[in-house]
Amino acid sequence: MQPSLLAVSAVSKRFGATVALEHVDLSIGAGEIVALMGANGAGKSTLVKILSGVYRADAGMLSLAGHPFMPESTQAAKRLGVATVHQSIADAVVPSLSIADNLLLDRLCDGAGPWRATPAARRRSAAPLAARVGLDVDLSAPLATLPLAAQQLVTLARALAAQPALLILDEPTASLSAPEAERLFALLDTLRAEGVAILLVSHRLGDLRRLADRVAIVRDGRIVADLRPPIDFDAVVETMIGRPLRSHLVRGPDSIETPMSPKIAKAHAGLTGFHAERVQLTQHSIPFDLDVRRGEIVAIAGPVGGGKSRLARAIFGAGRLVAGRMSLDGAPWQPRSPADAIRAGVFLAGEDRWRTSLFADSVSFASIAGTISFPFLPRWFPHGRVQRAVEARAASDAIERFGIRCTGPTDRLTKLSGGNQQKVVLARWHAQPARLLLLDEPFQGVDAGARADIVDTLRAQAHERATLVFVSDLEEAFEIADRVVRFDRGTIDHTSSFEPELSPLS
Ligand SMILES: Nc1ncnc2c1ncn2[C@@H]1O[C@H](COP(=O)(O)OP(=O)(O)OP(=O)(O)O)[C@@H](O)[C@H]1O
Ligand SMILES: [Mg+2]
Repeated sequence: MQPSLLAVSAVSKRFGATVALEHVDLSIGAGEIVALMGANGAGKSTLVKILSGVYRADAGMLSLAGHPFMPESTQAAKRLGVATVHQSIADAVVPSLSIADNLLLDRLCDGAGPWRATPAARRRSAAPLAARVGLDVDLSAPLATLPLAAQQLVTLARALAAQPALLILDEPTASLSAPEAERLFALLDTLRAEGVAILLVSHRLGDLRRLADRVAIVRDGRIVADLRPPIDFDAVVETMIGRPLRSHLVRGPDSIETPMSPKIAKAHAGLTGFHAERVQLTQHSIPFDLDVRRGEIVAIAGPVGGGKSRLARAIFGAGRLVAGRMSLDGAPWQPRSPADAIRAGVFLAGEDRWRTSLFADSVSFASIAGTISFPFLPRWFPHGRVQRAVEARAASDAIERFGIRCTGPTDRLTKLSGGNQQKVVLARWHAQPARLLLLDEPFQGVDAGARADIVDTLRAQAHERATLVFVSDLEEAFEIADRVVRFDRGTIDHTSSFEPELSPLS
C-alpha cells in the first residue's frame, strides 16, 4: 500500500449548533482518486473547505506528505500543494474580467506582476492553461460571456496551474455535458497517472463508476464507509441516504425508448397548457412546435449549449424568439418580462442559481423565507408591508416539503449546502400555484435520495399545471418526465423523442 499523501484524522467542525463534521478520518495516496459521497448537507463541502484553507477545523489533525498541514488561507493551501475547484463557481471568478485574467487570477492576486504585462502578454500566459483543459475560446472576452460549463473549466485550469499534489473537485460535472465530462475524466486519468492525488465530490454515480479508486461515504458529518472496487453503487446510495432508494427511479432509458407516437402528439394539441408553433430560437436554428398539456411533465433533454436555457428564458419573458407564436391555455402568450410571466403564473427556476434566483448575502432578504417570497411580494403583500409571519409560514412549508436541511426559515442561503440551496430555488416556485412551470437543470447538486423526493413532489402537483424540465442528463429526464423530447442546436429532434411506457398519468 502506498503511504498516504493526505491524512485527515479526527477532524471536527461546527457552525453554531450545527455539527458539520465529527471525528472524520480520511487518507488519500498519491495517484489515487477518492470519491466523497453523501447526502445534501452531509458535510462534504465543509471537509473540502478545511482542506483548502477556507475554514479551520475545530479539532483534529491534518498532514500532507508527512508534514502537519494547517493552511491559513486558500493561497497558503495552494502553495503547500492543495488546489481546489469549489462547488460554487460564483465565488471563484470575476465575471467582468477577461477569461485570460481569470485564468491568471492567483498570480495576479499574489502580486506576481502580470498586471503590468500587456493584455496580449497576459493572453499568451493564459493560453497554455486554457489548452490544458481543452478550453478553446477567445481569452480576451469577459468571463461573463462564457456558459457555466466553460466557467467551470476556467476554475479547473486555474487549479491545475498551481501543479497541485492534491487536487480537490467539488461537483465538477454538475454543469458539464457528457462529452465535456468525458474530457475532464480523461484529464483526471492523466493526472492520476502523473501521481496527483484527487478528491472528488459528486452526486453522479456515473462519474464515480468511471473514476473512483475508493469511495468514502459521509453521513451526518461522519465517515460511515470507505469502500474499494468492486463497489455496489446501489448499496452506496442506501448507505448514503440511510434508506433504500425507491424502485421507480431505477427504470433506465433502455426500457422505455419508444418513438413518440403521432397519435399522442395530435391528442396534445388544442388542450389546456402550453403550445408553441413554428418557434425559432436563433437566426440559424430550425423552427419547431412544442406542446405541453396541463398535467403533463415534458423533459427537454439535450447537450449543454444546445439552446435549452435559451428556450426556457424565451418562454419566461427573459429572452426573445426570432420567430413563431406561443399560447398558454388557448390565449396568445407574449410576455415582455419575467415580471409579466410571474404575474401570469409562468415560473422559471433558472440553471445558474446564484445568477438567476438567489441574492448576495448582503441583501436583507437573503434568508430562506425572503428568497421564497421575493417573486410573490406584490401578490402576497399588495399594500407593501411584508408580514414576516406569512413569509415564515410559506418557508416552513417549503422546508418540510422539500426536506431542506437547515435550522429554520431565517437561515441565510450562504449557510446552506449546495444541494439545499437548490431545493430552496425549487421550493420557491412551488409556493404559489403555477400554470406553466419551467425548471432548468433542477437537480444540480441534489443527492439521489432528495432527487427521488423532489420527483415525487413535482409529480404530486403536476396535475395543476404544465411542466417543462430542461436537463442534459437523460437518466434524470426519464426519472421525472412523462415524455422526453430531444433538443439540440436550438431545435427539437422529432426523430428521437421518447415516451415512457410507465406514464404516471395513466
Ligand atoms: N458557513 C456556514 N454556516 C453555517 N452552517 C453551515 C455553513 N456551511 C455549511 N453549513 C452547514 O453544515 C452542514 C454541512 O454542509 P456542507 O456544505 O458541508 O454539505 P455537503 O455535504 O457539501 O452538501 P451538498 O451535497 O448539498 O453540497 C449543513 O448542515 C450546512 O447547512
Ligand atoms: Mg457541497
